[in-house]
Amino acid sequence: MAIGVFDSGVGGLSVHRALVQRFPSADLIYLADQAHAPYGGLPGERVVELTQMGCERLFEAGADLVVLGCNTASAIALRRLQQTWLPGFQRARGRPSNVLGIIVPTIEAATGLPWVVEPEPLPEKAEALEVLGIFATQGTVNSRVYEIEIDKRRGDLAVFSESCPQLVPLIEDGADRRVLAPIVAGHVEALTRRIGRTPDRAVLGCTHYEIIADLFAAALSLGVELIHQPRATADSLERYLHAHPEYDPGSSGERKFLTTGAPGPQNSIVEAFWGAPLRFEAA
Ligand code: DGL
Repeated sequence: MAIGVFDSGVGGLSVHRALVQRFPSADLIYLADQAHAPYGGLPGERVVELTQMGCERLFEAGADLVVLGCNTASAIALRRLQQTWLPGFQRARGRPSNVLGIIVPTIEAATGLPWVVEPEPLPEKAEALEVLGIFATQGTVNSRVYEIEIDKRRGDLAVFSESCPQLVPLIEDGADRRVLAPIVAGHVEALTRRIGRTPDRAVLGCTHYEIIADLFAAALSLGVELIHQPRATADSLERYLHAHPEYDPGSSGERKFLTTGAPGPQNSIVEAFWGAPLRFEAA
């Protein structure tokens, strides 16, 4: 079998790359739904529908396990699909099949706690001692998933989110880094102003932003630790595969890159990030 990685576009490549490094002999299939990107401003129902279609395509292409390399799809669609579509799909397919998101691993990395913790009374709401900044799409920010889930687990960690709606379309279009840098700096400044100080740590909560992580690192003050979502996802998948031996990630190191958009080479920012030419095939 293979592991599928799904995103609206090229952002999930950051997760895919971390999985290639962690599981060099695994067979991996990447699907970019570039015909419908960006997802960040779409109505929730549409994100659910597109995410389901993307997962179905990856299962059809040979994946048994799909990782949503997209915060927006993980925040808006994953729980719905787990509740409504996935159980019936699994029964009909008749073999182990599952879809995993990237928000749970990121929250585990941000809180330093496993997702499922022994229920114990939370201490009195502490005055937040630490501030976490999240940069994400409008859809992810509106879902408030990071605020809600972190607040349940760590009363001493305050979360502030900033949506950066221009970045995904610009990265998909291969915009010049000189265009991207001031936009990133503007969002870092806006978040800093809202918090009243620089965050202690930050999450690039949209996988596309990882492709320009150096621009975020340059705009954030020195000493702000960036939580690396692709690494957190690889760690979590490693634990998952260990606990679920029914999923065999394959052993031939085969890689396929599919897109619902225009097949062919990807733009120069993506290739610079990837470190080699990259061609997508028609999905
Ligand atoms: N990479 C997706 C994410 O992590 C971008 C979503 C979009 O297409 O706006 O949220």
